[in-house]
Amino acid sequence: MTDYVKIFDTTLRDGEQSPGFALTSPQKVERAHQLARLGVDVIEAGFPAASPDDFAAVERIAREVRGPVIAGLARAVAADIDQCWEAIKDAQRPRIHTFLSSSDIHLEAQFNLKREQAKTRALEMVRHARGYTPDVEFSPMDATRSDWSYVCEVLEAVIDAGATTVNIADTCGFAQPDEFGMMITYIREHVGNIENATLSVHCHNDLGLAVANSLAAIRAGARQIECCVNGIGERAGNAALEELVMALTVRRDHHRVKHGINLDELVPASELLQQFTGIAVQPNKAIVGLNAFAHESGIHQDGMLKDARTYEIMSAAAIGAEGTRLVLGKHSGRHALRRRLEELGLLLTQDELNHAFAGFKSLADYKKEVTDEDLVLIAENGRRAADGVFDAIGHVYR
Ligand code: KIV
Ligand code: ZN
Repeated sequence: MTDYVKIFDTTLRDGEQSPGFALTSPQKVERAHQLARLGVDVIEAGFPAASPDDFAAVERIAREVRGPVIAGLARAVAADIDQCWEAIKDAQRPRIHTFLSSSDIHLEAQFNLKREQAKTRALEMVRHARGYTPDVEFSPMDATRSDWSYVCEVLEAVIDAGATTVNIADTCGFAQPDEFGMMITYIREHVGNIENATLSVHCHNDLGLAVANSLAAIRAGARQIECCVNGIGERAGNAALEELVMALTVRRDHHRVKHGINLDELVPASELLQQFTGIAVQPNKAIVGLNAFAHESGIHQDGMLKDARTYEIMSAAAIGAEGTRLVLGKHSGRHALRRRLEELGLLLTQDELNHAFAGFKSLADYKKEVTDEDLVLIAENGRRAADGVFDAIGHVYR
């Protein structure tokens, strides 16, 4: 089995399905160019049958963006697949991605289909798609809430019909990591022709487990991961691309697989999406949040000043971030204060620094973050206090 994991980005399709995250066509095209720079293997550009605007954006991306495979999504319905092909046919490497549910709850309550009928429709639609392109992906939707043996039957049938990627969708974010890993192993052991297709996973984050589930699937042999920048997507989102990629990178010793992502484009990719949608990631978001490389506590800042490896497992610069920030707040220590004052050109004697530190601590009790403007005043007060004019927080002695 290859040790290369394909990164399939669905920010422009599943990501765009999240409320408030709609992008205009020009934004989608710019975003697709950015994804190509990021080095993703597949860009799911949209769902051409969903709207004329989606069709137009997918068509432009297919014509303009070179490098990654350009996939379009289509229900397992001939008309959707025809429209999808129309939109992607000019791509350098087009892919039709078609899907149909495999869980009884979906088949009975939503589609009024028996399992056998659904399987037949799936394989017929894969055949139909293969009439257009040799690159066809099939997803059994809600696979993780389906009977595993039925999922295997469907996979075997669609691979025989020509599917080159089969994608196990945890549509409702229901799976647990160990269980999902077992499901992937089960599929590898029970689908006779599985070696003829790339095994992919698509995890939603309803229980906060999308990244953990995707990693468990890789360990069990999945070799394509569907994900979104900043973890956006339907409801609680999809697996976050940047988290997956950095887990695979930082813990290469553990996962033992390669990927083709250009790490220094991770933060620019995240920022462009925030800018286009107007929705910022939370400050404590792993990898790309404002605080991902910020240290406030004195003990951590002291360690960071001695050797960054004490409290950081990856380099901010390597992923295109500005760098480590030592935030001056009430938990900060004297070393960090001295460092920041020096960076501002404020060189204090030890005595002046001691007084300045006392002033800093009392201000930090009232303010969340002490700014550079505050520090200029704190340094001045520290100097005067050392001269015996003021105490450090500005009380006049004489
Ligand atoms: O979540 C899902 O099941 C999907 C499929 C279309 C792959 O987005
Ligand atoms: Zn999805």
